[in-house]
Amino acid sequence: MSQCLNPECLSPNPDNSQFCQKCGNKLLLVERYWAKSILGQGGFGRTFLAVDEFKPSKPLCVIKQFLPQAQGTENVEKAAELFAQEAERLELLGKHSQIPELFAKFTVDNRQYLVQEFIKGETLQQELDNHGVFNEVQIQELLIDLLSILQFVHSHNVIHRDIKPENIIRREADKKLVLVDFGAAKVISKVQHRTVTGTVIGSAEYCAPEQSMGKAKSGSDLYSLGVTCLHLLTQMSPFNLYDVMEMEWVWRDCLNGNFVSDELGKVLDGLVEQKLKQRYHKVEEVLAELWFGNYSISQTQKIKKTSNKSSSSNPKKSHIYRLAPQSQTSVCPTQKKSKSPQKTVSNNVKKSHIYRLASQSQTSVSPTQKNPKPSQYSPSNDVPLVSVRRVNYKKLRNLLAARKWKEADQETKRCMLKVARREKENYLTE
Ligand SMILES: Nc1ncnc2c1ncn2[C@@H]1O[C@H](COP(=O)(O)OP(=O)(O)O)[C@@H](O)[C@H]1O
Ligand SMILES: [Mg+2]
Repeated sequence: MSQCLNPECLSPNPDNSQFCQKCGNKLLLVERYWAKSILGQGGFGRTFLAVDEFKPSKPLCVIKQFLPQAQGTENVEKAAELFAQEAERLELLGKHSQIPELFAKFTVDNRQYLVQEFIKGETLQQELDNHGVFNEVQIQELLIDLLSILQFVHSHNVIHRDIKPENIIRREADKKLVLVDFGAAKVISKVQHRTVTGTVIGSAEYCAPEQSMGKAKSGSDLYSLGVTCLHLLTQMSPFNLYDVMEMEWVWRDCLNGNFVSDELGKVLDGLVEQKLKQRYHKVEEVLAELWFGNYSISQTQKIKKTSNKSSSSNPKKSHIYRLAPQSQTSVCPTQKKSKSPQKTVSNNVKKSHIYRLASQSQTSVSPTQKNPKPSQYSPSNDVPLVSVRRVNYKKLRNLLAARKWKEADQETKRCMLKVARREKENYLTE
């Protein structure tokens, strides 16, 4: 099947037809790309799945077609400017293994096109729709993965401005998250002091207050990332997770039994702070909180088990975890039923055992990865974080990830003493 690229036609055609049977439009774009289907349509363009005829293996690629819907010269020019910017940004940012590589940029019949790497996988929205809500461990892993991409993006003075589940793809090959759709991204000039004033862009549900006023900052991406997490934890529209009358987030009331520890909750609250001043300003602050703050999965298990045991005897503690789904229906009447009822609190406890050491992942590079990841923050899938002897290797993992070799040596010694149960003696013998 070949997809006609004429915006007024868009008819499907039999394979290898040279011209659209309906409108006569040439189908092979720049003598090289066959569009196969429509992947999406946004305010500034349409996205097609396509085949690259020039390459021997005829791989899939993604074509973005500039499609100004805006009326008036100024808006059309703005849209064209945004499209050209996306090309520049993608070329620069596409060097990161978790951002699609830009292959080509050209104009045909006064329409602009970008061709980029095709990322095989599901978007986080599709994952949510198909598999139900995310649990605590999945959210923490997701945060670490996405924050490392954002760190790279922000270090190039770019604000993405449209972070949301539809724009994040989990690559099938290595399960890493890939950030797409830099259509709304904006470069911050030095004069602007890390604020971008002007066009209001982004998806309203995920948009930070300052961004909706046309003043996006890098913290605006952190806000959208936080809202993305809240949506994935609750499967509810972000609009329903915020009480406009009380002007506060009510996401905890909408968890429907999905467990979120106080520690992760605190990080999420810090991401979705309405006031910029009170929100995390930088990716590094959030990562530091996740790596070095009080937040730890093993601690989560401990707290959760205590909370389970004491839910009747200690009502003060148990209310924190919102374990009673029946109480949520009144607060969140619009909530859809989760497709994963099995993802209950007890399941979370089980799942959290599989949390992994980060430092391991840096040695293995997937064959699909262009370059080894620039970031040092990445969870791996190989080594359990807490050993059967209940030694917690989190600190060691963090030190290795931070390349603090000397401290890592000391921590290794501490762990070994603990494993050998010789902490008091403070030395190891054969
Ligand atoms: N490089 C890519 N590889 C695979 N799928 C993609 C890629 N880029 C976009 N998509 C898919 O196409 C959809 C629309 O593309 P996107 O770039 O987000 O444009 P827009 O949101 O402006 O329509 C995305 O939600 C995603 O599902
Ligand atoms: Mg998009």
